[in-house]
Amino acid sequence: MIQLQRVGLSAFIYFLISVSLCRHSQTATVNDQSTEVEIHSLNGKWILRNENGTYNLPAVVPGCVHTALHKQNFIQDPYYRLNDLEYRWISLDNWTYSLTFTVPQSTRRMKKAVLVFDGVDTVSTITLNGVTVGTTDNMFRSYEFEVGAILAKDNLLEVRFMSAVTYASQRDHAHSAYRVPPACPPPVQKGECHVNFIRKAQCSFSWDWGPSFPTQGLRAVELQAFNFIRLQSYTTTTAWDSSLSCWNVEIELSFDVVVTTNGCFTLVLPELKVFQMFQLSIKPGQTRETLSLQIPSNVSVDLWWPNGHGEQTQYLLFMEGRTESRVTFHIETKVAFRTVELVQEPIPSSPGLSFYFRVNGRPIFLKGSNWIPAHIFQDLVTPETLRNLLESAVDANMNALRVWGGGVYEQNTFYSLCDELGIMVWQDFMFACALYPTDQDFIETVREEVVQQVRRLKSHPSIIVWSGNNENEAAIATDWFGIPVAERPKYVKDYVTLYVENIRNIVQKEDASRPFLVSSPTNGVESEKEGFVARNPYDPHYGDTHFYSYLSDCWDWSQFPRTRFASEYGFQSWPSFSTLSKVSKAEDWNYLSTFSAHRQHHELGNTQMLLQAALHYILPNSTNQLKHYKDTLYITQVMQAQCVKMQTEFYRRSRSEIINGEGHTMGALYWQLNDIWQGPSWSSIEFGGKWKMLHHLAVDFFSPVLAVGFEDSDTLKIYGVSDLSTDLNLTVTVTVYEWGSLIPVCSVESESCALKGGGAMLMMQHSVPALLKDCGKCDRHSCLVTFDLRDATDPSNQHGPTGHLFLTSPKEAGLQPPNIKASVERDGDVFAFTLHCDAVAVFVWLDVEDVAGRFESNGFLLLSQRRTVRFFPWRPTTVEELSKKLHITSLRDVY
Ligand SMILES: *[C@@H]1O[C@H](CO)[C@@H](O)[C@H](O)[C@H]1NC(C)=O
Ligand SMILES: *[C@@H]1O[C@H](CO)[C@@H](O)[C@H](O)[C@H]1NC(C)=O
Ligand SMILES: *[C@@H]1O[C@H](CO)[C@@H](O)[C@H](O)[C@H]1NC(C)=O
Ligand SMILES: *[C@@H]1O[C@H](CO)[C@@H](O)[C@H](O)[C@H]1NC(C)=O
Ligand SMILES: *[C@@H]1O[C@H](CO)[C@@H](O)[C@H](O)[C@H]1NC(C)=O
Repeated sequence: MIQLQRVGLSAFIYFLISVSLCRHSQTATVNDQSTEVEIHSLNGKWILRNENGTYNLPAVVPGCVHTALHKQNFIQDPYYRLNDLEYRWISLDNWTYSLTFTVPQSTRRMKKAVLVFDGVDTVSTITLNGVTVGTTDNMFRSYEFEVGAILAKDNLLEVRFMSAVTYASQRDHAHSAYRVPPACPPPVQKGECHVNFIRKAQCSFSWDWGPSFPTQGLRAVELQAFNFIRLQSYTTTTAWDSSLSCWNVEIELSFDVVVTTNGCFTLVLPELKVFQMFQLSIKPGQTRETLSLQIPSNVSVDLWWPNGHGEQTQYLLFMEGRTESRVTFHIETKVAFRTVELVQEPIPSSPGLSFYFRVNGRPIFLKGSNWIPAHIFQDLVTPETLRNLLESAVDANMNALRVWGGGVYEQNTFYSLCDELGIMVWQDFMFACALYPTDQDFIETVREEVVQQVRRLKSHPSIIVWSGNNENEAAIATDWFGIPVAERPKYVKDYVTLYVENIRNIVQKEDASRPFLVSSPTNGVESEKEGFVARNPYDPHYGDTHFYSYLSDCWDWSQFPRTRFASEYGFQSWPSFSTLSKVSKAEDWNYLSTFSAHRQHHELGNTQMLLQAALHYILPNSTNQLKHYKDTLYITQVMQAQCVKMQTEFYRRSRSEIINGEGHTMGALYWQLNDIWQGPSWSSIEFGGKWKMLHHLAVDFFSPVLAVGFEDSDTLKIYGVSDLSTDLNLTVTVTVYEWGSLIPVCSVESESCALKGGGAMLMMQHSVPALLKDCGKCDRHSCLVTFDLRDATDPSNQHGPTGHLFLTSPKEAGLQPPNIKASVERDGDVFAFTLHCDAVAVFVWLDVEDVAGRFESNGFLLLSQRRTVRFFPWRPTTVEELSKKLHITSLRDVY
């Protein structure tokens, strides 16, 4: 509080100084015209009708057709059961949003009036009082139309949409020269065709984890009227000037100007006690001005760091502007100081190049996941939803997310939260898994989209890299679409035209402060050398890779590519019963039901999950059909959690090594963080925010200090991995347990060993047969091992979580029924579950049905007679409700 007041006060003082200085330098002109910009929000209740007028209903803007129909009870929850098929007609119809509004005479008298559409989804003709003011074709752009001449006292504004599906198909048809594949998604996705011909969220026509709902709708709409000048947008960037050893703050202002305007602008960074004044003479038209402020080198600036590496310091920035015509401007925002480099340089004893990010000069291992849209109807994504998901990422020790190119450029709140939480963002441009046309009008709308998005987003320190598309280099290189070799050059040329000559050129011109990659996966500079489409974009010696293998044994780490950077990998699972039951009914609750097949959008996905699970676990065989279903959901989560854990640990322990020329892995972003609906997917968080078992395991496998245990031909190896900036002096303790007992059988301790900050190394190795023999009564089936890292000088100080390793598949091991019992107690707003068990229990899962909230730990190994786990509910609940709804499942409980 005191801090804030002081900041406010000093800012105020700077304003006083600057304002009085400005006044002396100008003569104020007096006139009777209104000087400021009038802004009339046109959000709120509009009228929505379909093409033939059979539907006519109130609709809220911002909003979309589906949410309006649902709100007026014309349709059920679109996510319920098979409704995505039932409601397909909605996207095939053409809808019109209309609004009547009055405009006072004072506004109409102003020199310029502009309709500002924050976003129009997607293809529309916009009329005001029957006069066409413009058309739209890109949901990723904002649009402005000058309407002064058409404004009346009473106005009718209409946005006449055309079905996105119809439009895409017409565009494909018109592109007769050659096909631009893929024409349609695989039938299992139950989607629409030719999405690559429309600038709309590519997943809105269906994806392998989501439904097809190509909706129509509007984001915020405003009428802005003014006489002199209006500020359209601004960006702030900071850059380190190495020649002067100081930081520069740059603020770019976009103005819409009617008459030449002279003004005085002041930039203030109150916390740094830095300010500067600027005199500008702003010419009529759409004008951009840059104010550049140097932070003196004797002013000390705290840097912005990724989560886990330091504070996320941001500084207040005020801009105050006054013009001769008495128009004033106020901007209050935040700036942060950090540098980012993408390092691609030769590595000793390895062919190829490194691929890692250096932030503020420190190499950073990126730990995290991939982000998809949090709802297919973007108007339903609230700041609370975003905060819950992003805090979940940080709570799982993540420091990075890739905003994947088949969704949307996220809303401002998303990036502000990432700034605040220290989540580094790998930002794709919205092109995915397809080839794209390069017709002139398509390129033009993309160019405008890229300019607008870069200007909107570049102020955010969280964004560390731009990337042109998702998997489109790989799609050409490894021929996803059966293109004859003779025709390939044509497609490569289109690829270079779109992503290099247009998108990359614009980004590099608009934002010199970040690296740009043309695709993901890519070989980076090597791909560029090979003409932007490398022979093998998955080459582990260069750039990033995406790697999926659903049927090969995920416990066999030797199959994983020892890549420089793993930007996608993963396994599917089903969400919990409480999430599914919101959109299904009793007849659906069977793994083989129509519903189960319908929700699965990845060919053979349901079978693949069980085949992978059956490699190591006994599949559920309860004769109670509902229990069998719930146990099956559980076993898919166990499979997914363990597979992604093993793969992620492999990447983390490969950080410092080169083996057979491969290694120096510096990123592990699994596919995918969140869900778009309630269905099977690769996500670690369910639609609604409930954590899957994978997300709980991620807390440990992304821990800043981690012990990774694995077997390498009968040798138990324990690696230490550290993201710290300081070295640790550690010992490894390995403990052997029998499945049937909670008392350790034996343990061994390593010599002390220094673990370098920002490194991974082998800290201990031990022959497994020798360990079991020395332990006496153990074999691979009856025992398992746990291991941890401890301070060499103070063994009571453990670093990182305790890990465990199975010495055989659990399906062959002697797991005993653990008989887990629990009691619940309230402690304020928190509830404590105390668990008791008879034997070692693995993948212990606590579930309280529809009581939304978060367990502090779940999916764990239960090794002690008594363990307390806290539960943080997101709604009021009671001990009675929780006791009644609590279900505990461990691996031994499903057969
Ligand atoms: C009007 O459109 C709706 C929705 O597309 C359709 O179901 C209905 O048959 C149409 N009615 C007429 C009279 O054309
Ligand atoms: C929607 O508009 C397009 C373009 O005008 C037209 O071809 C199509 O038939 C319309 N669809 C419906 C359902 O009226
Ligand atoms: C930085 O240096 C300038 C000029 O040399 C001086 O006026 C100012 O007081 C110094 N600021 C700090 C924080 O030391
Ligand atoms: C690590 O700790 C051990 C035990 O206290 C000590 O003997 C050893 O010298 C330490 N090593 C380093 C590098 O500090
Ligand atoms: C389920 O499988 C287990 C282990 O194979 C077996 O012991 C049990 O009898 C089976 N239960 C049923 C109901 O088939």
